[in-house]
Amino acid sequence: CGIVGVVGKSARDLILNGLTNLEYRGYDSAGMYLNDLAGHEYLVKAVGRISNLKEKLTPEQQGLVGIGHTRWATHGKPTVDNAHPHFDETKRFYLVHNGVIENYLELKEKYLQGVTFKSETDTEVVVQLISKLARENNLDGFSAFKKALKLVKGSYAFLLVDNTQPDHVYIAKNKSPMMLGLGNGFNIIASDAISVLDQTKTFVDLQDGDVGDITKDGYTIENLDGEKVTREPHVLDIDPNAASKGTYEFYMLKEIDEQPGVMRRLSQDYLDENGEPLVDQKIVDAVANADRIYIFAAGTSYHAGLVGKDLFEKYTGIPTEVGYASEAGYHFPIMSKRPLFIFLSQSGETADSRVVLKEANKRGITSLTMTNVEGSTLSREADFTMLLKAGPEIAVASTKAYTAQIALQAILAKAVGEKLANQDAKDFDLKHQLALAAEGIQEIVDGKERFAELAKKYLIASRNAFYIGRGIDHAVALEGALKLKEVSYIQTEGFAAAELKHGTISLIEDGTPVIALINDPVTADLTRGNIQEVTSRGASVITIVGKQFAKENDDVVLPDLNYYLSPLLTVVPTQLLAYYASKEKGLDVDKPRNLAKSVTVE
Ligand code: G6P
Repeated sequence: CGIVGVVGKSARDLILNGLTNLEYRGYDSAGMYLNDLAGHEYLVKAVGRISNLKEKLTPEQQGLVGIGHTRWATHGKPTVDNAHPHFDETKRFYLVHNGVIENYLELKEKYLQGVTFKSETDTEVVVQLISKLARENNLDGFSAFKKALKLVKGSYAFLLVDNTQPDHVYIAKNKSPMMLGLGNGFNIIASDAISVLDQTKTFVDLQDGDVGDITKDGYTIENLDGEKVTREPHVLDIDPNAASKGTYEFYMLKEIDEQPGVMRRLSQDYLDENGEPLVDQKIVDAVANADRIYIFAAGTSYHAGLVGKDLFEKYTGIPTEVGYASEAGYHFPIMSKRPLFIFLSQSGETADSRVVLKEANKRGITSLTMTNVEGSTLSREADFTMLLKAGPEIAVASTKAYTAQIALQAILAKAVGEKLANQDAKDFDLKHQLALAAEGIQEIVDGKERFAELAKKYLIASRNAFYIGRGIDHAVALEGALKLKEVSYIQTEGFAAAELKHGTISLIEDGTPVIALINDPVTADLTRGNIQEVTSRGASVITIVGKQFAKENDDVVLPDLNYYLSPLLTVVPTQLLAYYASKEKGLDVDKPRNLAKSVTVE
């Protein structure tokens, strides 16, 4: 979910803009509370996109204080009643919330017997609780809020308005991201800085446990024990245009097209003119000292980690494991003597990954976050950070962050391998390879119409599809399948090519699309055999093949590239197939149903 609040400035359009920029965090429903400080208040909510909320707002609904929310449903369906802001029985308090309250049923039972609830959400329990505590103890809003926070367990970024003192917004943060933006005569609170960058560039990073009172001219922050804390503002140096769509219909295609530039930037910033890695020596030493690397991530970043495993093992010789953060958090793997954790996360905010990082910190395990977002939670809490430098990624389906993660892992692997005197690392002409990758991606995206045709011919009429590949192509098969299914709703599975015959081949029917990836010299012929097996059972096969393995009838032939980096090229046709399948089906490519780009709940 995404939240925006403002005090001291015409709130309605500012909040609408901010929420639109935060739609990547969820778009099941949205809502806004406005107070004009002259005795009028408005609460407007709508199911679906921010545009629906905008339509529902009438011109006279304005405010000088406001809080807004765009929701990714956790507790309760996306309905108007379940949309935020939530309010209490007496309609005094209005609350928006990003996160999950773990003990909401307990709180309801213990403190809120007899209270009538309008929604099924955990958030409403909190606002009712604040109200109850205020009434019973005759407290002002801020004190009641703080009292309630002591009882609440879970993750939250809260914005609260008490309409008996409407020129304040009260805030609290635990685990969910929240920034305070400082303006001249106004202040803003938002889930991220980019969403309100048109209003201010001066931000205060709030920390877990912070509770604040925000007015138009100032702010005070304290901890849950009521002790004042100081948080210094800083100026953020981001180009707001980097997050605009330009002439593209969808961000996803823009971001696919940006990948050659991302490869060049990483090469420029992390390799010197002789191709030697420019990686912080402390990071290189920490990784080189490890006897095992553990990579944790979710979704597409997890798939980038699978490629990273091969890169680290090849160029550093250090055994590397990759795990879903969501699993590792509660079933911690057996540790080697000197483990090093790498967290891959585009957003740097994924709650599942944060659970593992917290545990790692508790155990004193050294950690490195590779993320696209400077100052993000996973970056702040890990020992080290390496930035992906891919520029803002807005489309929910991740593309350029994936290729950036692979390239950055390769850079680190080379740096560490050289330190360990690994011959393969010394011989790894990464600068040249990244230049080839940039050119190769450019060549593929320049011929993008081809993928629109393939998607139309083979994919859009199909209910399901398969990606198959061996070795490093297996990792790309998983990512290709995720990309296609998440944006086109065609159920797609990625398989180790040979595994299909051990069961799943029973799903192959006449015309079932099977996309086969071939870049692995060791198994190229065997994968050809697997293609035969599905072809003879009626599958329509699309082949995506490295130049050196290409045969006459292959559909897509990729330029040559080092095997360990081949995913940088192989993935691009899979991204384009997914993009065009979604677009041809008339879907909202950038915002597939049910998803959110940054998932800050477990
Ligand atoms: C969400 C997104 C995925 C993304 C995953 C991990 O589920 O929808 O596209 O891969 O989170 O995100 P991260 O920001 O940690 O890479």
